[in-house]
Amino acid sequence: MRDLLKRPELLHYVLDTMVEGLFLLDKDLTIQYMNSSALQIMDGFLSDDDYHGRNFYDYVHMAPIDFNEEGTSILIECMETGTSLTRVMSEHPNGKTLSINVVPIVVDNEKRGLMLTMEDVTKLIEIEKELDMAFALTLPNSKVEHKMKTTVEYQDEYNPELKNIRVTGIIKDGVYRHVVNSLKIFSSLAAQGVTKVIGIDKDQLVQAIIFHDLGKVQPDLMIGEVVDPREVFEDSKLHAYRSAEIAKNLYHQPDDVVELIRFHHHSEKEASESLPWRLLPMFRLFQLIDGLSAAVTRGGVDVLFTVSGSSVIVTEHNRRPKYDGTRKIDLFTGKRRNIE
Ligand SMILES: [Fe+2]
Ligand SMILES: [Fe+2]
Repeated sequence: MRDLLKRPELLHYVLDTMVEGLFLLDKDLTIQYMNSSALQIMDGFLSDDDYHGRNFYDYVHMAPIDFNEEGTSILIECMETGTSLTRVMSEHPNGKTLSINVVPIVVDNEKRGLMLTMEDVTKLIEIEKELDMAFALTLPNSKVEHKMKTTVEYQDEYNPELKNIRVTGIIKDGVYRHVVNSLKIFSSLAAQGVTKVIGIDKDQLVQAIIFHDLGKVQPDLMIGEVVDPREVFEDSKLHAYRSAEIAKNLYHQPDDVVELIRFHHHSEKEASESLPWRLLPMFRLFQLIDGLSAAVTRGGVDVLFTVSGSSVIVTEHNRRPKYDGTRKIDLFTGKRRNIE
């Protein structure tokens, strides 16, 4: 069979028809290659037409990924640490919102440069903003919205040997995104009939989701920082207690909603000693949704689920082996089993 395109042509064709903008940089951040989409995305912010041999920061004005708070280039940092950054959101002065990935190019253990890809996600973000505005109207008041939108969540990479994490991204409105994702997951489970299970009350669970992380306080961390999560993050049970107090006393939520919030970071065993049985199916579903939403919000995870009787079957593609795979959770008994 005849080749559609010859090899060198094929590579150019593919690179220049990609929707993502692509830069290849050597280890001094000199641009070795950029494709047509990169030209379009950065239009008006490039020095001239000839990128060859130019330093990335000199050639691209207002580079969409530049320096961390200590004044070190994020690109140099990626190269030196040999670690990649994924889906970093950047609002560029040209009005575009970009989703950026930075991947070190390592050949024979030698760090040779970086591949930087960027996607224009402005339209997607606009649609998301419209949906957000609609959702904000359903919140009790602007204080709740403000707290959610100013509490960050961190994206990180876990090192199982050293038991530490490296911060790879900061989601500024992390709790807000987490609540929206939790509601999306719940609505898709509801469409499959989970609210028909005895003990699952749709309205109560929606309220529990909205209020559950309002008491959360996060440490100030920077991209690239390596920390021991047990030292820097507060015991989750504390924010659960605070959120329960807020829901009960400031927003007059029903007792069952308050108890679900209070125990949302307790283990199954601790919760079953403290909560009446009638609340346990909803408690289990809530914890499942909370965990899945946290994973989805931080990125890099795909989840699929089906409801079968009083059980939920979850398939998660997660980089952390502990959570990767298919499992079945019975909301009545709390039994969990892994399915091959
Ligand atoms: Fe929480
Ligand atoms: Fe949560």
